Amino acid sequence: MSIKKDDKLLVSKIESGTVIDHINSGRALVVLKILNIKGNEGYRIAIVMNVPSTTMGKKDIVKLEDYYPNSEDLEKISLISPSATINIIKNYEVVKKYKVEIPSKIKGTLKCNNPTCITRKSNEPITSSFTLLSKDKIKLQCDYCGSILTEDDIIKELIGESQ
Ligand code: CTP
Ligand code: ZN
Repeated sequence: MSIKKDDKLLVSKIESGTVIDHINSGRALVVLKILNIKGNEGYRIAIVMNVPSTTMGKKDIVKLEDYYPNSEDLEKISLISPSATINIIKNYEVVKKYKVEIPSKIKGTLKCNNPTCITRKSNEPITSSFTLLSKDKIKLQCDYCGSILTEDDIIKELIGESQ
């Protein structure tokens, strides 16, 4: 079986909703997990994985009918897939297209991986805060204790596999 050059041959266009395109290949299921989409919500979802992309080599695509991610969702997606593009679809047309953007400060979304960090103490109501050190191979630094979060740490945390 060969992979077709055009994903439109794999899944049809949607009438209204969101197409998250240019997701790092192999990450579509992580995106769904981040959005807390389990598949039993009732709306139509298409997941395309490891299809050829002119700019990325291979990419994943997630199509969500009648679903629109909020800004917190988009921040999380940017952390695991900085090249992702968001296409808002109305009446079969792309009415809005933009790239997700990794913010230079990430506040509250992630937990520090240092158990003795002040942001992890339950009696200290301090919101976590990280500075973006590197975009290409994503790296974040805790503003309170200096600990580094790598891409793997971030994925584990966002999919709920860290302690
Ligand atoms: N799409 C869809 N349903 C629609 C319109 C678009 O599922 N009614 C999907 C397309 O299949 C594509 C993505 O949304 O995966 C973006 O559509 P479009 O902007 O038309 O495609 P391109 O120009 O190839 O996008 P880009 O330049 O961002 O790669
Ligand atoms: Zn810390």
